[in-house]
Parts: sequence; structure tokens; C-alpha cells
Amino acid sequence: KSDPLVLFMPSGKRGRFPVGTPVLDAARSLGVYVESVCGGRATCGRCQVSVQEGSFAKHKIISSLDHISVKGPKEERYESIRGLPDGRRLSCSSQILGDLVIDVPQDTVINAQVVRKAASDRVIERNAAIQLCYVEVDEPDMHKPLGDLDRLKVMLEKDWGWKDLLIAPHLIPQIQGILRKGNWGVTAAIHRDMDSSRPFIVGLWPGLKNEAYGIACDIGSTTIAMHLVSLLSGRIVASSGTSNPQIRFGEDLMSRVSYVMMNPDGREAMTKAVREAINVLIGKVCAEGEVDRHDILDMVFVGNPIMHHLFLGIDPTELGQAPFALAVSGALQYWAHEIDIDVNRGARLYMLPCIAGHVGADAAGATLAEGPYRQDRMMLLVDVGTNAEIVLGNKDRVVAASSPTGPAFEGAEISSGQRAAPGAIERVRIDPETLEPKFRVIGVDKWSDEEGFAEAATAVGVTGICGSAIIEVVAEMYLCGIISEDGVVDGGMAARSPRILQNGRTFSYLLHDGDQRITVTQNDVRAIQLAKAALYAGIKLLMEKLDIEHVDTIRFAGAFGSFIDPKYAMVLGLIPDCDLSEVKAVGNAAGTGALMALLNRGHRREIEQTVSKIEKIETALESKFQEHFVYAMALPNKVDTFPKLSA
Ligand code: FES
Repeated sequence: KSDPLVLFMPSGKRGRFPVGTPVLDAARSLGVYVESVCGGRATCGRCQVSVQEGSFAKHKIISSLDHISVKGPKEERYESIRGLPDGRRLSCSSQILGDLVIDVPQDTVINAQVVRKAASDRVIERNAAIQLCYVEVDEPDMHKPLGDLDRLKVMLEKDWGWKDLLIAPHLIPQIQGILRKGNWGVTAAIHRDMDSSRPFIVGLWPGLKNEAYGIACDIGSTTIAMHLVSLLSGRIVASSGTSNPQIRFGEDLMSRVSYVMMNPDGREAMTKAVREAINVLIGKVCAEGEVDRHDILDMVFVGNPIMHHLFLGIDPTELGQAPFALAVSGALQYWAHEIDIDVNRGARLYMLPCIAGHVGADAAGATLAEGPYRQDRMMLLVDVGTNAEIVLGNKDRVVAASSPTGPAFEGAEISSGQRAAPGAIERVRIDPETLEPKFRVIGVDKWSDEEGFAEAATAVGVTGICGSAIIEVVAEMYLCGIISEDGVVDGGMAARSPRILQNGRTFSYLLHDGDQRITVTQNDVRAIQLAKAALYAGIKLLMEKLDIEHVDTIRFAGAFGSFIDPKYAMVLGLIPDCDLSEVKAVGNAAGTGALMALLNRGHRREIEQTVSKIEKIETALESKFQEHFVYAMALPNKVDTFPKLSA
């Protein structure tokens, strides 16, 4: 009779093992990641799994609780002291007796709570760079003069298989104290993803240390977003954000580069500001998650190229002018303290690679999260900011570019534009007959034609239009014939509606006449046309490179994408024709990518290899860009059609 068959879920890995094999050993031999700190002593509780009962025809397995050994004294002891959730077993202490389906709990499910409006729930398989290893070191012996560190290494190799271990120098003076305090039982944190590829002891504690944390952080030019994660369970302990204090040196990226060029201490001041903000934010997530910041051992950062350079203390001046040279494009590793990040002294910091001079580590993070390179279908991934980062491709080929959209989509350069905040108009509809508008204001939970709106709106104040509403109002104006295909506000309409106002030689549309008059001017329409033409021309250029006529699916990353309605984006021709149900906002995909790289070092190699293969297109150098741009100035486009929109 053959050995029992064991299937591990959710990975689906399986194999046959002799009766009596510990479940943890079976998992290890199949490469299934199950955490263990105590080395199978049944004290850390990290190796928990559960057994699924039932028959699994696909794999011809009948799994039953009787097919796993009953709890032995060590497991009983653990349960009585620490408690085991219902149905959970310690895989180190339970043995295989018959065919089994084992469920390995995957706690990190990236879902809508973490990533706003995420396209789908996703599970990140855990394989963190940090592993905690408990060992009991031999006491010193006068006849064998091997040093304390050397005896520690012997045990780490014997119990855990670590060869060629290096150690963070700051730990060396502490070793003797720690070993004695732990009565020769210590937990070492091993980092197994160093540049040297040799495993590194980065932390050491007396006794059993059962928790280690990591930080995933996206440094945006406006907002810094952060997750605090348990590296052992994969659980997201706290998530938070703060505004990037560099805003005081310049609203957008280029003004920050200019600040560096004009001020001798500019680079240093901005580096200091962002690092300080990150340290404060770490304090905040730690307080929220009740975690000691010194238990943070690993960090992953993403950011656009200019944020990337300023954070790492690199002068970004070269990124402000052609040929937009990055100081370094590959992935980087540091000790966190080298970047002035105040966490555990042995903590490491990994920065995702940048794709190109204007397509940064944030785009690499979003690419990792959405994975165009993992699928057959043609995916367009756009992150709209002052610079749109565009990635297009599938498993055969991926191309990337950036396009200078300018800040119009964020409400800048628009006469009544403002950031998305209470008082900002966020949704607009215009009646095609009467040309009367109705709208919604952030902070007022009603449309403007609903009862009680006026009262609620007075309390909040109607102060301007945010990015999502600018797209909508221009699209609605176009759909009502207030603006022509060329984007000209039609003065002839003034006879039909008092909302069409003349100012000098052009006309504008009166959206709201309150304490503050909110109009959409000819210049506003122009600014949106310029921004959307730049975005579309960039996308079109990439489509041409891949020789494709249409894309299968579109992902909007970043805050802008979370708010705009895909239908209006297509009415204006920001994006190419695509099934509307295939256009999705994925929230902070860059942050999700950072999280994936934090929890699974395999994802670091994956994105490093992917980025090295992505073909970078510099829009400024492509003669066709100008042509696409001119066509895209028209609404929705002079030459391209949008059949899926009318369908
Ligand atoms: Fe520590 Fe099982 S490995 S309890």
C-alpha cells in the first residue's frame, strides 16, 4: 500500500509521505511556507494549520481528522498555556496517519478594506525575508574555546540549516549578555534576502521572540501611505497615511526639482522632511497596532522617481531635464538606519526598481500588484498624476511610458478647481433640454435638486470642483452640445440658457451661483483637453509599439482613478475604447505591490526581472506623439472611435 497523500491548500501542492511524518516536515519538503520560530518545540505556535474533512475527488483524497495524530503532551501543554483556535493544530507536533487535506492559514488577504475599491480580493503567499529562529546554545566549555557567536552559529546551522551566516556588527557586543539573559535559549532574526545572498543575523533576543513586523510604504508626492504588517502571520496590523511635507517646497514634482536647483540646501531639506514624516507615520501605525517600533525588522518602499531620489538623499536635478537620467534604476537595499529611519537597528529597507526616468518604483509596485505580465489579456495600467505613468502589455511583452498630463486632472489650472475635500463638487449631471445642472458636493449627502440640499450645502459651503467632477462636467457639456468636438463653448447656446455666460471673446458655463460663483470657462475646457490628449497620446504610442488596436482591460491606479467614472473618462477620450465593465479602479496599487514584496521575497525577484524586460518608451522622443496628441485634442478623438461606449 502506498504512503498517504497529503494536499496543502491553498497552494495545491501535494506529495506522499510515510506514516508518522510531521506535517511541518511534509510542508517544508514541498516548499509550502509554514512559519516556525521555536524549531518544532511546540512553544511558538507559529506553525498552525487545520485539517479539512471530506473527499476531494479531483485529487482522489479522503481527508479525515483521524488521519492526523491526536494531540501529544507538547501540543496539549501549548494549548493549555496559549490556547489553540478551534480546529487548529501545531504542524510541528502532529503526524500524518492517512490521506490529508491541510489548510495553511493565509492571513493576508488584500481586500477592499485595505485597497479602496480593489479589483479583486487577493491572497499574498507568505515568504518573508525575515525568519525568526529559536535555538538553545551549548554553554561555554573551557576545553572547547569556541566563542559564543560561533556556538550560536553552530546551533543555527544544526537546528535550522543556516550556513555561512553573517551578523549585523551592532549585535556582536550584545551577544554575551543576550545568551546569558536567555539562559542559553535565544531567538535570532535571520534576513535571507541580502545583496550578498548570504543569510544575515539582524536581531537577537533572549528566550523566545514570537513577533516581527514590517512596513510597506508608498511615498506619493501628495500623500505617504503605509501598512504595518506582522511578518509572521502576514496580518495587516494598521494602515495609515499622511500628507507629504515636501508640499511646502512645491506643489508638484517639477517645482520640487526646481527648488533643489535654486536652493543649495534644498535637496537636504526635502530629504529630511520626508524621512521625518515617515518616522512620525511609523509612530502612528505602531501606536494604532500596539507594536513597539523596534520590532520592525524589514521595510519595502515605492515612490515615483523624484520621491525615490529625494527619500534616498539623491539629487533629482537630472530627472528634471532630458534625458531624464535616474541615478540608479535597479532595486536597492539599505540598513534602515542609513536612511535615518528609526526602527530596529538591524532592520533592512528594500526599494523596488524604477522602470524609467518618469516611471518609478510606484509604477513597478502597481505592475507587480496588477500583473499584466502574468496574463494573456492585454492590460492597460494607468496612474494619473501630474505625470501619468502608463504600463501596457501581457505575458508576451510589456511596454511603459510616462506622459506629461499636468495638474489639470487634480483640479489645478482650473478656475474653480480644488482638491477633493468637503465643499468640492464631485459629481455633475446636465439636463440636455434645459441645460440646468445638478451636482453632488463632498460632505453633503444629496444631489443639488434634492430636498434639504440648500441647507446642508450652506453648512459645508460649495467651494469648487474637484478632479472627478471636472471630467464629468466637461463630458456632460459635450454630451449636451454646450461644447463642440473641438472643445469650443458654443456662444449660440446663450440664447437658450442663462447658464451660458459671455466673458470677452469666449463663453463659460455657470455651474453654481452661490457665495462663490462656480463656472467652467473656455480655458478650463482647454486645460482638460490638453491633459487628456497627453494621456491618450501616451497610451496610443504604446498601443502602436505593441501593434494592437484595442485593449482588453484597463486599471486605474491611484486616488484619481478611484473617483472618476470610467464612462466619463471614455466619453472624453482619456482612455481607449474598452468594455466599461473591464475598466476598474484599483486604489493604491503601488502600495499593494510594496506589501507583496514585503511579505514574499519571491515577488522582489519577480518585479526585478519584469522591470528589466519592460520596454521603456520616451514620449518626448517619439515623433508620432505629437500627431496622436493633436488627434486626441478633439472630443473624444479626431480619428479613433469608441464603439463600446455607444453599445
Ligand atoms: Fe513552534 Fe510548531 S514550530 S509551535
